Amino acid sequence: MADSIHSGSRLRLGVLASGGGTNLQAILDRIQDGFLDAEVGVVISNNSQAGALERARAREVPALHISSRQFPDSADLDAAMLRTLRGHGVGLVALAGYMKRLGPRVLGAYPDRILNIHPALLPAFGGQGMYGVRVHEAVVAAGVKLTGVTVHFVDEVYDHGPIIAQRGVPVEDEDTPESLFERVLKVEHSLYPEVLQGFAEGRVRVEGRKVYVQNP
Ligand code: GAR
Repeated sequence: MADSIHSGSRLRLGVLASGGGTNLQAILDRIQDGFLDAEVGVVISNNSQAGALERARAREVPALHISSRQFPDSADLDAAMLRTLRGHGVGLVALAGYMKRLGPRVLGAYPDRILNIHPALLPAFGGQGMYGVRVHEAVVAAGVKLTGVTVHFVDEVYDHGPIIAQRGVPVEDEDTPESLFERVLKVEHSLYPEVLQGFAEGRVRVEGRKVYVQNP
C-alpha cells in the first residue's frame, strides 16, 4: 500500500500511456509553468514506440517500456509494473491513453490512487473497445448534443470507477469524429492537470462511489 501520494512535499506521479502522449505533455507543461505542484517520477508504456516515451525522455523523466512481450505471464507483468511504480516513489498513477488493463497487485496497492481520463461523459460511451476516435464515432452516430471529458478512478472494470470530474463539450451539427476528437482533447489537456492539482492540494475526498473535489 502506498502510504502517501506525496514523496517528500510533492505529489509524485506515475503516468501510463500507450500512444502519442499529448495528455502526458499537458501534465509536464503544467508542471513546468508552475500550475501543477507535482513531479512525474516515471512514464510507463506497453508500446515501445509510444510518443509518450519520447516526450518523457525530452524532459529527462524516466521512460520505460513494460509489456507482455517481456512478461508473458500476466502476474509477472503486474508485479513488474508495481515494482517500477514503487521503485520510482509513485504516489498517484495517472492513466493517459493507456489501453491495457491493470493487474490486481497494482490495483490493490493504489486504492483510490489510480486515475484515468476518458474522452466522453461516462457512463455513456465507455467500456471495452471504446477508446480514442472510436468514442467520437459512437458519439456522432448517436446524435447526442453534448459530449465531454471524464476523469475517474480506475477499478477492475473498464471505464467504471467513481467519477472525479467531468467537463462538457457541445456537439455541433457539422462535427465529425475527427473534429470532436480535437476539441475534446483540448479540454482533456486542461481538465487533467486541474484534477491532479486537486490531489496535490489534498482537495479530493472519496466516500464510496462519491468523490468530492473542493474548489481551490
Ligand atoms: C485521449 O483522448 C484519452 O482520453 C483517450 O486516449 C487518448 C490519448 O491521447 N483514452 C481513452 O480513450 C481511454 N478509454 P494522448 O496519448 O495524446 O494523451
